[in-house]
Amino acid sequence: MIKDEIIKLITERRARVGVIGLGYVGLPLLIEFARNGFDSTGFEVDETKATEINDGRSYIGDVSSSAVKELTATERLRATTNFDHLKDCDAIIICVPTPLRKTKEPDVSYILAAAEEIKRNLRRGQVIVLESTTYPGTTDEVLLTMFEETGMKLDTDFLLAFSPERVDPGNPQFQTHNIPKVVGGCTDSSTEAAAHLYSQIVKEVFAVSSARVAEAAKLLENTFRAVNIGMANEMARLCYALNIDTWEVIRAAATKPWPKRSTRVCLSTWFSLSRMD
Ligand SMILES: NC(=O)c1ccc[n+]([C@@H]2O[C@H](COP(=O)([O-])OP(=O)(O)OC[C@H]3O[C@@H](n4cnc5c(N)ncnc54)[C@H](O)[C@@H]3O)[C@@H](O)[C@H]2O)c1
Repeated sequence: MIKDEIIKLITERRARVGVIGLGYVGLPLLIEFARNGFDSTGFEVDETKATEINDGRSYIGDVSSSAVKELTATERLRATTNFDHLKDCDAIIICVPTPLRKTKEPDVSYILAAAEEIKRNLRRGQVIVLESTTYPGTTDEVLLTMFEETGMKLDTDFLLAFSPERVDPGNPQFQTHNIPKVVGGCTDSSTEAAAHLYSQIVKEVFAVSSARVAEAAKLLENTFRAVNIGMANEMARLCYALNIDTWEVIRAAATKPWPKRSTRVCLSTWFSLSRMD
């Protein structure tokens, strides 16, 4: 079975990993795979970024140039603008941007561009994971349809999953390796293979029953954050009008022992909603 073949390759560190989009999400992820012994290739449209990586320089705060240099020297890490090499990858992870359109809908054109390249290079035995933030249904409605247009079949020829990205750039406590990863596949085999892949580089993997559940979990996380920020901003205005210190109000409210997490989220996301991560 294709799932067993992929899992064996991953376990034996023979799986070649490709990450599409080397930004705040993709570069730390690629580094983590290389650090853990996987042959790792980053795929970029921006030639300058690919050159920087191959020259051993990082352009992302959470990744040091010394780490990039060390890994490129081992020849386990490289970046390219040539998407033909996707064919050589056993696992492909999509980390391209999904900015909001003026209408506040996610612009999935970058996902579609990456998926076209995968489709062009799709071969039997690959597991593909989408990490970019998007609407529930993207993985099994859009990507699966595109990939099956090649004549190849899910589970028989390739596996497909969604795993939302949660990176918090600049956060010294939580980085790629210790942020729990939610993984949901278009089939059980897809979930199992993708969860196994991430379990090689991340401490905790939380498998869910479908790609849609994983996509909806990300939507809930982001909505929860947005609602907290909106509420905090409204409270700040109110406190200003009342001529009292907002932070003193928050510190007082935060002494309630439950639910601690929502208060912390409210504090940490203060005034910071500018993009859909
Ligand atoms: N940065 C965060 O804090 C964060 C957190 C959670 C989720 N996310 C989500 O993760 C995804 C990636 O975000 P990011 O912050 O890494 O974006 P980014 O803009 O930092 O990086 C994206 C990279 O993808 C490259 N790219 C664009 N189109 C491409 C293509 N077709 N093929 C190859 N490379 C391509 C760009 O050149 C860029 O280097 C987005 O969906 C975002 O919403 C981001």
